[in-house]
Formats: sequence, structure tokens, C-alpha cells
Amino acid sequence: MDSLQEIDNTKIPNHLAIIMDGNGRWAKKQGLLRAFGHESGTKSVKKIIQACAEIGVNYLTLYAFSTENWNRPKLEVETLMRVLINSLKKEVDTLQKNNIKLNAIGNLNLLPKNAQKQLLEVINLTKDNTLMTLTLALSYGSREELTNAVRIISEKVKNNIISIDAIDDSIINQHLYTHNLPDVDLLIRTSGEHRISNFLLWQIAYAELYFTDVLWPDFKENDLHEAILSYQKRERRFGKTSEQIK
Ligand code: IPE
Ligand code: IPE
Ligand code: MG
Repeated sequence: MDSLQEIDNTKIPNHLAIIMDGNGRWAKKQGLLRAFGHESGTKSVKKIIQACAEIGVNYLTLYAFSTENWNRPKLEVETLMRVLINSLKKEVDTLQKNNIKLNAIGNLNLLPKNAQKQLLEVINLTKDNTLMTLTLALSYGSREELTNAVRIISEKVKNNIISIDAIDDSIINQHLYTHNLPDVDLLIRTSGEHRISNFLLWQIAYAELYFTDVLWPDFKENDLHEAILSYQKRERRFGKTSEQIK
């Protein structure tokens, strides 16, 4: 049975982030090239985007390519970029039909020019959509994001635009790629790995973490619903006592 019926609609995570991992192992398990795993992973992406929009998630952020993924073999990087461009082209209609706005975070300048162009086109086309914000983390690394923020803030301090005393959480937030996104409520990682791999380190400070052994191409609506159910059973205390929360 699908766990959808058990979900409490009043406690849907506002911002859900997913580390979509396991494409390569999924392909290897069936004797296929890693590229097939990446192709297949896009089907899960489509399903999960729609399922999130239906269930009432307001912000969905997907880790699609990390700064460290540039170190993979050239052929695999090329495959991943091709898969990205093709699925952007293919899914514009899905985004429009479902009233979803596309956003991207990361060092986007490093992406091939045609990928940048395709990305900007879809971001622009969907900019007035209001149901859900879908953010793709591309050439994204949290350490780079934070380093970049420190550099910009320092420059502003040097030019007397910000005083040192004014630097607080909110100033740092405003200088991250995610400045227009709320903190993450639930972080899911597939494929049985229990690590964060340089994803949204600042933004997950109080996120609930959910790990599943399911490989990304096998991750279906029901797996998403189970993750949300697990999230709904937890008590988020944000440093307070249980009594204070009630
Ligand atoms: C996730 O799957 C996709 C990216 C990291 C781009 P992987 O390619 O990491 O698959 P595994 O972890 O090797 O199975
Ligand atoms: C994390 O997966 C990055 C993405 C899912 C895009 P990796 O497969 O690159 O992470 P590690 O290397 O196993 O930590
Ligand atoms: Mg991996």
C-alpha cells in the first residue's frame, strides 16, 4: 500500500532537498554502462518533482552535479551534461503545466555554454510560476558557496558597505546562492551512503536527515511518501526541550 493516505497535509516539509545518488551502481547491477543509470535517473527526477508539487512541498532542491563531480572521467561528465540539457528541453512543459518555477544554484559559469543557455531559457520561461520552486544544484559545492560569500562580504566591508559588527546569520544567508530559499526541513539521500558530500552545509543546520538504500533510478513516489512520513513522526526541537515545543 502507498503511504500517501497516512501523510498529514498540515506537516509537509516546506523545503525538501535530495541527494540523488546511486545511478552508476544501478546501471552496473544490470551490466549496463553508467550513462544508462543517469538516463534512468531522469525518470525518477520527473516523478519526484510531480509528486512533491502534488503533495504541497513549496521548495524542492535537487543535487544534480557537485563541484567534485568535475573530477570524474571526461566522458561521464559529458554524458551528465548531455542528460541535463536534454531533460531541461524535455521537461519545460511539465514545469509549465504544474506551475513550477525553475531555479539553479552553483558555479553555473563552469557549465558548458549550451547548458547555461538552456538553463537560463527555462528559468526565464518559468519565472512567474508559483506552485513550487524547483532548484537544481549544478556544479554546486557548499564550501565554494561559503568561500564565495566570505569574499563578497569582505569586499563590502573593505568598501564600507557593511560594517563588521553587522555581520550576522542573515547577512551570510543573503550572500549564499540560496539567498531566496528558506532553510532545508528534510534532506533525503538515496543509495545507502550516509554522508552529505558538500551539499547545503549551512542550510541543513536543523534539517531532518533521511537515508534510504534505494538507488536513485528506483526511487518512486512511495519512497518519497515514506520519507515524509518518517519526517512527520519526528519532534523538531531546535535546541529547546520537548516541553517547550508542546
Ligand atoms: C548520482 O549517481 C549522480 C551524480 C553524482 C551526478 P552516481 O553517479 O554518483 O552513482 P554511484 O554513486 O556511482 O552509484
Ligand atoms: C553526491 O554524490 C553528488 C550528487 C548526487 C550530485 P556523489 O556520488 O558525487 O558523492 P560521493 O562521492 O559518493 O560522496
Ligand atoms: Mg554516487
